[in-house]
Amino acid sequence: MPGAIHAEGLVKTFGEVRALDGVDLDVPEGTVLGLLGPNGAGKTTAVRVLTTLLEPDAGTAVVAGIDVCENPTAVRRSIGLSGQFAAVDEYLTGRENLRMVGRLYQMPAREAKRRADELLERFDLAHAGDRTAKTYSGGMRRRLDLAAALVVRPPVMFMDEPTTGLDPRNRQSLWEVIEDLVAGGTTLLLTTQYLEEADRLAHDIAVVDHGRVIARGTSDQLKARTGGERIEVVVHDPAHIPVARAVLDRHGHTGGGEGCTVEQHTRKLTVPVTGGAKLLAEVIRELDAEGIEIDDIGLRRPTLDDVFISLTGHATEPGDEPAAGTAGGAAHDAATGAGGTGTEEDDR
Ligand SMILES: Nc1ncnc2c1ncn2[C@@H]1O[C@H](COP(=O)(O)OP(=O)(O)O)[C@@H](O)[C@H]1O
Ligand SMILES: [Mg+2]
Repeated sequence: MPGAIHAEGLVKTFGEVRALDGVDLDVPEGTVLGLLGPNGAGKTTAVRVLTTLLEPDAGTAVVAGIDVCENPTAVRRSIGLSGQFAAVDEYLTGRENLRMVGRLYQMPAREAKRRADELLERFDLAHAGDRTAKTYSGGMRRRLDLAAALVVRPPVMFMDEPTTGLDPRNRQSLWEVIEDLVAGGTTLLLTTQYLEEADRLAHDIAVVDHGRVIARGTSDQLKARTGGERIEVVVHDPAHIPVARAVLDRHGHTGGGEGCTVEQHTRKLTVPVTGGAKLLAEVIRELDAEGIEIDDIGLRRPTLDDVFISLTGHATEPGDEPAAGTAGGAAHDAATGAGGTGTEEDDR
């Protein structure tokens, strides 16, 4: 498979830490795999192994039909990696940077120029194309970095938290660029802490925690696995939370061992249920009989956030920058610190 990613039994330890503890991954050609996981789960390490920046202690990986350990140079020619920020030259303009990447990959000068213009336009950088990269804000640098990774339209792309630190508008336009790319046949492995991003872009999702894949499937499959619907109640008076909780606990399905969760500050209680609208009506009657005033109540399908919480025990922390690595990963990791200075484009 020229465009597929296949990994088996990947292990990578850093001293005591098993960053990868036997990871298997499969990304069929032309599809998007979303790699989800809390901070420190091993996502960046997996990307670094698959992009030949790091050698695994054990296991095998074949990217674009080439073994990453046997022939890293050939793998590098077939892939794009966003986050190669060190490849962006501060003293060149945005346009010059992109043209240089094209020339490095032996693109004819005219095509490199055309591609640079096209990408500047796409990433909303046309107005700044003739300014040196060192004058760019964090968000602009990130976009330039992503554009640089796309100059040669590689058959396989890796993106490690591509939209962390982007404002919603830029995130939206990046999603469109990614969708175009995938429609054109590119295979993509994407890590993200934004579950909405995985929901929208990924055909398949692998959830990693402590260096292992703990669940995989489509977004819908994972949601279905997390179990039916949820009843969500907002009580008017915080003093009523314990009684409301007792009512909900009586009706929650206990399949996943999950009971009712309570968010004190919003007075919101959530419980996974099976039984739909009929059960909802019953819960309303019982809350009413207990004299509990309700501000809001409803039935909803589980979100990917629910899936994530029930699998890993905690919510994602979008906005946390990917962990910085060692020298070997410096080219890659340098990008992640780029948005740190609080520019107008940082959305959190
Ligand atoms: N170069 C390194 N040296 C030592 N420990 C590392 C290094 N890179 C990653 N780790 C550790 O490996 C684990 C996985 O890290 P990482 O792959 O960056 O996770 P994620 O990208 O999912 O946040 C973490 O515990 C991290 O601290
Ligand atoms: Mg990371």
